[in-house]
Amino acid sequence: MATAFGTVFMPEMAISWFDGSAWSAPEMVPSDSMQLHPGAHVLHYSSTCFEGLKAFRHDDGSVKIFRIDRNVARLSQSSQLLSLPEIDQSQVTSMIRDVVKRFAADVPAPPGSMYIRPTHFGTEPAIGKAAAPSLTSCLYILLSPVGDYFAGGDRPLSLLVEDDGLRCAPHNGMIKSGGNYASALRPTLRAKAKYNVDQVLFCPDGDIQETGAANFLLIDGNELITKGLDESFLHGITRDSILTLARDMGMTVSERNISVEELLERAAKPGCEAALSGTAAVLAPVGKLIYHDKEYTVGDGGVGATTLKLRKALNDIQWGKAEDRHGWLTEV
Ligand SMILES: Cc1ncc(COP(=O)(O)O)c(C=O)c1O
Repeated sequence: MATAFGTVFMPEMAISWFDGSAWSAPEMVPSDSMQLHPGAHVLHYSSTCFEGLKAFRHDDGSVKIFRIDRNVARLSQSSQLLSLPEIDQSQVTSMIRDVVKRFAADVPAPPGSMYIRPTHFGTEPAIGKAAAPSLTSCLYILLSPVGDYFAGGDRPLSLLVEDDGLRCAPHNGMIKSGGNYASALRPTLRAKAKYNVDQVLFCPDGDIQETGAANFLLIDGNELITKGLDESFLHGITRDSILTLARDMGMTVSERNISVEELLERAAKPGCEAALSGTAAVLAPVGKLIYHDKEYTVGDGGVGATTLKLRKALNDIQWGKAEDRHGWLTEV
């Protein structure tokens, strides 16, 4: 049986500590344990953020990291918005490259990849700092080799369209922080148990936002529609990449609010497609929506041709089968 995504780790990780004034020189340390004070700020006040990006093996044996600059920039932004110590973006970039290089031989061939998990959290032993930031922190880069996301077949996903409830506090949506996932867990588990759906599509005030761990894209003919960037949701790097490739293909890209009403109206058309975008799955088709206890099929309910075309275009760049025209790959 295939192992679950993210449960196998490389034996070492890169780590650096901020002591209140400077970052320590990065080190490679065993990745199976670490010492933390039980009063560490992160364990009480969730001062933590992380990233998810991938390295790919190419046919010529080289290993390339996808959009490392964007992921490091997002980690920096998350850290700032959480009042964590400022990260050193060039040091973090080197740490990622160094640890991937160290385990380059373990990077799976496509459709597998090496999933990279930079993590930054507050370490100050202080349990009276609910309203004050941690002055010290830790940043590490953990690696997990992952296989084919679609190994079990490309099954269209089903979503509960939820217009009563939020994924997370609206001002925190663009932060990739553990607290946001904790906040989305209960509504997601409830939806899975009650409706047997894969994910919840959060739609505060009737506007489509995102699911618990992916952005939502609607494809209607030659038009790709997705919510415009604001601080309420995570600015996916896959979302940005897919929009760029869609524009390259001559599609019309509309970044604007989509109401639930518009979604259901468009979904009823035979050619309509919907998909979730994110680093893990790249682009996963959505075939069914449940809204107010009623079921709606998206297009023909299958795996959309444009979804597949866009996913292939992105995979081809990641896997070295198409020219990297946008300079998205970094060699380790
Ligand atoms: C809440 C949320 N939205 C969107 C995404 C997609 O982001 P990206 O494409 O950068 O992986 C993720 C990915 O982990 C996520 O957790």
